[in-house]
Amino acid sequence: MTTKIIGTGSAVPEQVVTNDDLSKIVDTNDEWIRTRTGIRERRIASEESGTSHLATLAAAEALKQAGVAAEDLDIIILATSTADHCFPSGACEVQAAIGAHRAVAFDISAACSGFVFALNTVHSFFKAGIYQTGLIIGADTLSKIIDWKDRSTCVLFGDGAGAAVVKAEENGSFYMTLGSDGRKSSALECRSRTTGNFLTKTEPELGYMTMDGQEVFKFAVKTVPESIHTVLSESNTPIDEIKYFILHQANYRIFESIAKRLKVPMEKFPTNLERFGNTSAATVPILLDEMNREGKIERGDKIILAGFGAGLTWGATLLEW
Ligand code: ACO
Repeated sequence: MTTKIIGTGSAVPEQVVTNDDLSKIVDTNDEWIRTRTGIRERRIASEESGTSHLATLAAAEALKQAGVAAEDLDIIILATSTADHCFPSGACEVQAAIGAHRAVAFDISAACSGFVFALNTVHSFFKAGIYQTGLIIGADTLSKIIDWKDRSTCVLFGDGAGAAVVKAEENGSFYMTLGSDGRKSSALECRSRTTGNFLTKTEPELGYMTMDGQEVFKFAVKTVPESIHTVLSESNTPIDEIKYFILHQANYRIFESIAKRLKVPMEKFPTNLERFGNTSAATVPILLDEMNREGKIERGDKIILAGFGAGLTWGATLLEW
């Protein structure tokens, strides 16, 4: 039993914000951002284009490409850290918007690793024989939890959504690994929720995202190659059989370091970071959708998807297209 991606879709807000635009609100410049990260511009959501809205647009495109009707979906998993509300979940909002009334729908929170967590979770349901057809989405509007006065974080992120329709099938490769280490959560966190009640008298915390950039960098360049090696060895696949490594789009220098460690040429690490920045759970499925629509991935190709992010969390999937 395996899991196949049979359709992809993506959506980003219309509003483009360039590095020069950001240099008008914080003390930064295009050269610093480009050379440290590879990012040139990002899309930022308006009031009207929240996480569920973008997720719904991406989902509709993926369903259309897959030729699957919404009412045929058994399960919807939305990976996000920036759902529009505490509840209902974003997945339930997408379910209602697309009319997938038979599906079970829920969100998972694994930050930038979220799409890989969603894919591996749906695969586990398929493998157990519980469901056969699923929709997985990575969608985030991190612009809502960024301190737009903090130049060390606000230049890195953008908003967007990507989706994939997945199906349980008999033949093909699918190997996965996931990991978490809550002890290192302070490297990347956003504690903007109230934890008090009438007994504790705690005031609501309205914090923004904080990040120890160098810690995150070290964590990414260590765990991503390790998880890639795990899926390669479990599947007994030589690394040169992998056509593309579709990594969480956080930073171009992270790709360079990972490519060097794996001894794989940079051409195998596609990127769209320069146009969208880091869209958290959405980076992997947006890039996957672009590559799919450009015809760069063909049936039978082996690709690896890999994510890393807050939690800390990480994961990889080797799959046959
Ligand atoms: N513009 C100009 N200068 C800046 C900016 C900015 N936007 N941000 C920081 N600086 C300054 C700092 O103040 C510092 O100045 P100082 O030397 O006078 O003190 C200098 O630049 C260097 O700062 P560092 O933080 O040491 O810069 P570094 O080389 O580490 O680059 C970066 C920072 C790009 C964030 C890097 O650490 C990195 O890429 N880390 C990985 C972060 C990441 O990918 N996060 C997201 C992944 S997880 C997720 O996706 C949620």
